[in-house]
Amino acid sequence: MATVKTKTVWFCKSCGNESAKWMGRCPACGEWNTMVEETVATGKKAGVQSVSVPGASHKPMPLAEIDSTYENRISLNNAEVDRILGGGLVEGSLVLIGGEPGIGKSTLSLQIPLNCPSLKTLYVTGEESARQVKLRAARIGGDDSGCLIYSETLMENIIAEARSIMPDLMVVDSVQTMFSQNVESSPGSVTQIKETAAMLLRFAKETGIPVILIGHITKEGSIAGPKILEHIVDVVLQFEGDNRGSYRLLRSIKNRFGSTSELAVFEMTGKGLREVSNPSEMLIPMHEEGLSGVAVSAMLDGTRPFLIEVQALVSTAAYGTPQRSATGFDVRRLNMLLAVLEKRAGFKLGVKDVFLNMAGGLKVSDPACDLAVVCAVLSSNFDFAIPSDVCFAGEVGLSGEVRPVAQTERRIIEAARLGYRKIYVSSFSGLENVPDNIEVVKVADIPALCRSLFTS
Ligand code: TYD
Ligand code: MG
Repeated sequence: MATVKTKTVWFCKSCGNESAKWMGRCPACGEWNTMVEETVATGKKAGVQSVSVPGASHKPMPLAEIDSTYENRISLNNAEVDRILGGGLVEGSLVLIGGEPGIGKSTLSLQIPLNCPSLKTLYVTGEESARQVKLRAARIGGDDSGCLIYSETLMENIIAEARSIMPDLMVVDSVQTMFSQNVESSPGSVTQIKETAAMLLRFAKETGIPVILIGHITKEGSIAGPKILEHIVDVVLQFEGDNRGSYRLLRSIKNRFGSTSELAVFEMTGKGLREVSNPSEMLIPMHEEGLSGVAVSAMLDGTRPFLIEVQALVSTAAYGTPQRSATGFDVRRLNMLLAVLEKRAGFKLGVKDVFLNMAGGLKVSDPACDLAVVCAVLSSNFDFAIPSDVCFAGEVGLSGEVRPVAQTERRIIEAARLGYRKIYVSSFSGLENVPDNIEVVKVADIPALCRSLFTS
């Protein structure tokens, strides 16, 4: 047998960057302590082979002559998943579902075939035994007549089996457990993950069978993360949310066949994931009367307007240095807003502990939440409840001015639809079509906001 030449290289677990020597900090992505040592073959078989799309001509051709019927979409009988995929699963596409362990990736990908019995699905499990998958399927319910379970981790066997069965859909759970004989290193290593993904991509493009690939990411990034796969696959869907709570957000991070600003919301129930078609239901207050320290923000995530409850607690600091902590919100931005309140509006918050929380485990980056954060902090500080039918949408600038935000009208319409009677926005917002069942209060800066909110 010919001996395979090998060499030792270093890979970044976060971005997959290759280096001949160890480095404390990856020069490509800037992460610290992510370089791992791996042995790779230097022979002909080594590395990821290129993938060509079937039917593709290898000569340049006019765009007008290219057949686009290749993009056939399969409906997965799940309105939220179909929507974030851009209208169904595209034939021959490789979809990566990433997320922390326990968030619901296996549940969602098993629910898809159970919801679509007409699709012949090959569900490859490398993590759980076939029996465990059966128990999960029994828990979820649905029709399992189209679903084949295959417990295997060797990629060569999986591809051979899939080529003989020719299913309508293949699910691979998970990329970290699969390995190929072509690669020396152990399952879960950067080279194995890249090779597994490349083999699945080749399979998907050659046969036209869509493949759903599951990948774990841990908070510490201790396993080679799906990040290195992002440029190989066609679609990346990422599960977010607090896996102690019951709500899960599925976000499209990359989509070669649709928009990336889509977000789907699910609730983990005793019978699998339930689609939440009106996400504001989980993010807005349950209480009838206003509580102090609570303000509602009309935010936008991607293209979807949401109403979310912002909670703040302001108390006198027990120790010398006041604490500032924020869940779901950037703590530096919170510090900035507190400095604006102190300097521009004269509120002495420098000696107070401030805790901030966004409802539902959502991570918020929309600057329109600034106004609600400021109001929640002031409301808690003065123990003054904001009426429960009032909400806010505005960005706060460094000089204390309230700045207009994108798509203010859509936020107002969503707030009115959910029964809010008053919304505070920037006085610089240009508004045309505003529903008449909601009062729009325009404020120019923080002092004007306080006069309107706390003295009425
Ligand atoms: P899982 O899908 O296995 O997560 P992942 O594949 O991302 O690691 O399951 C997530 C959690 O969901 C698990 O703790 C059990 C829970 N669960 C339910 O609450 N209800 C259900 O119907 C199922 C199937 C799981
Ligand atoms: Mg799993």
